[in-house]
Amino acid sequence: MKTYILSIAVMLCANTAHLFSQEHLLVNAYNRASFSLNGEWKYIVDPYETGFYSFHSVQYDKSDYPGVAAYYTNSKPKTKSDLIEYDFDLSDSIRVPGDWNSQKEKLFYYEGTVWYKKSFGYAKTQITNRVFVYFDAVNYQADVYLNGRKLGVHIGGFTPFNFEVTDLLKAKDNFLIVKVDNNRKREGIPALNTDWWNYGGITRDVKLIETPAQIIQDYSIQLDPNNTSRLRGFVKLNGSKVRETTVRINILELALNKDIVTDTSGFAHVQFAVHKIKYWSNNNPHLYAVSLRTPEDEIVDHIGFRSIKASGENILLNGKKIYLEGICIHEENAIRGGRAYSFEDAQQLLTWAKELGCNYVRLAHYPHNEHMVRLADKMGILVWEENPVYWTILFENEATYQNAENQLTEVITRDKNRASVIIWSMANETPLSKARNRFLSRLAAKTRQLDPTRLISAALLQNNFNGNSNIKTIDDPMADVVDVISFNQYLGWYDGLPKNCRDVTWKFLQNKPVLMSEFGGSAKQGFHADSLTRFSEEYQEYLYRETLEMIKRIPQLQGFSPWILVDFRSPRRNLPGMQDGWNRKGLISSDGVKKKAYYVLKNYYDELSFKK
Ligand code: GCU
Repeated sequence: MKTYILSIAVMLCANTAHLFSQEHLLVNAYNRASFSLNGEWKYIVDPYETGFYSFHSVQYDKSDYPGVAAYYTNSKPKTKSDLIEYDFDLSDSIRVPGDWNSQKEKLFYYEGTVWYKKSFGYAKTQITNRVFVYFDAVNYQADVYLNGRKLGVHIGGFTPFNFEVTDLLKAKDNFLIVKVDNNRKREGIPALNTDWWNYGGITRDVKLIETPAQIIQDYSIQLDPNNTSRLRGFVKLNGSKVRETTVRINILELALNKDIVTDTSGFAHVQFAVHKIKYWSNNNPHLYAVSLRTPEDEIVDHIGFRSIKASGENILLNGKKIYLEGICIHEENAIRGGRAYSFEDAQQLLTWAKELGCNYVRLAHYPHNEHMVRLADKMGILVWEENPVYWTILFENEATYQNAENQLTEVITRDKNRASVIIWSMANETPLSKARNRFLSRLAAKTRQLDPTRLISAALLQNNFNGNSNIKTIDDPMADVVDVISFNQYLGWYDGLPKNCRDVTWKFLQNKPVLMSEFGGSAKQGFHADSLTRFSEEYQEYLYRETLEMIKRIPQLQGFSPWILVDFRSPRRNLPGMQDGWNRKGLISSDGVKKKAYYVLKNYYDELSFKK
């Protein structure tokens, strides 16, 4: 009887454990002491979700007695006669972080469910402390269980989430099991159709984070957009006994030591004057060590203070006009294969961008790993981050909107203290409709509410002005909503030949900054021919030359980000010998070799810099 009561008690506790999930996302987990769960995990490929549903499709974790067939119970035969048809410990291993497609040849095209298991021991350093399991990302849906108890579910392949596990951990023999499902879904964000590889898995770091009972869960400390001699933001504590608490904010380099007192819910607005501040910029990416301390908790972050504004047709960084010399980047390590996830991956991609002469990168088409934005902070590279509202989305579906808003909230929660991030993009190339306009306008309003300090944009499609194919414009209701009008255009690739750039003029209907968020063409590195032969390096080079000449004739343009830095895998690109499953619009090949067009763009940026 006692065991039975205990198991019910644990079940009740576990059933509330999911309450400590993404709405209590730990900010700046990056700098908290943590116990890494990276490394070799056991995995079971489960295309029929045998470990999740009974043969009559009853979901095991929705029944009080799931039974041994549920994979997340990690059951073992108790007698030689017992029947169990899985065993994690006898199964193969896979590395975390990392997608399964590039690690296991048999999973290269796999879309479905894979179960992951990690066994570990963990003794809390302080009995009163709390412990969270923190995932930097899992693509696409994660059902997470610890020691047979469900912690919760996360949907979205590119944003972090955590669950509190304080009361579920044992000193040894813990087993963390994650059901990962990367099936594309009509109602998903993104949905069924993308021009990138649907890498599945626990694609970023996993760690245990131990904290005091009352924690500094969230904060924002940014330069006040309306007063550049003032910092403002908020601090939010979390804990069962949160009350009015003094939070000491210290910025040594500014000789700033401020005590603020939270309300009884643990929330406080932050605002204080600062003098002689070194504003963060691409030329001077100065970061301040900011410490936040309560009687129980302390966290340190490195924050750059800058203002970014749209003023008429200009983008102003710290009050000065800036032209964004950019490039688009997918989160992929083409040479190793698979999703990029490490500091070294970020360093490679951003170093290539810097060598190209960029002061700006468009991180397409989803939030990249946190190494990218923190390294951009240090390197002085401005960043466009994008919510994966890509192409055809179920805009009339409320659950789809909530999913999009949740993913946007998570990336804003994670990155709102990153000076490098200047633009939140709502979407990419979404087809126009009333539902789509409502959906994106809601997202924009939510973004402004969450973060009034940055600019909002979206990669829109261009169209002919009054039916004239030589006058291009952006006739899209979202152009009236965003702060910065951005558009993708493919003159010379999908739209005529490169010489067509000479006949086209651009007409914008709003007095706002404009960015060309994509242009480009494919080339198989090493394939040389005349400049009209598709997929030759010479064709791509010609397209860049003609497009850059056209860009010089668009005075309202405040920058651009060609598509794309590196070739990337896509199931849509199937021309043998030229594509072979790769989108070849990279300026750098999937082997890391620079193509001729790379030098055309580099020279252009060098000339722009020389003129400054
Ligand atoms: C589109 C889209 C990209 C895609 C590119 C291409 O504009 O935004 O995701 O990869 O064009 O067709 O190569």
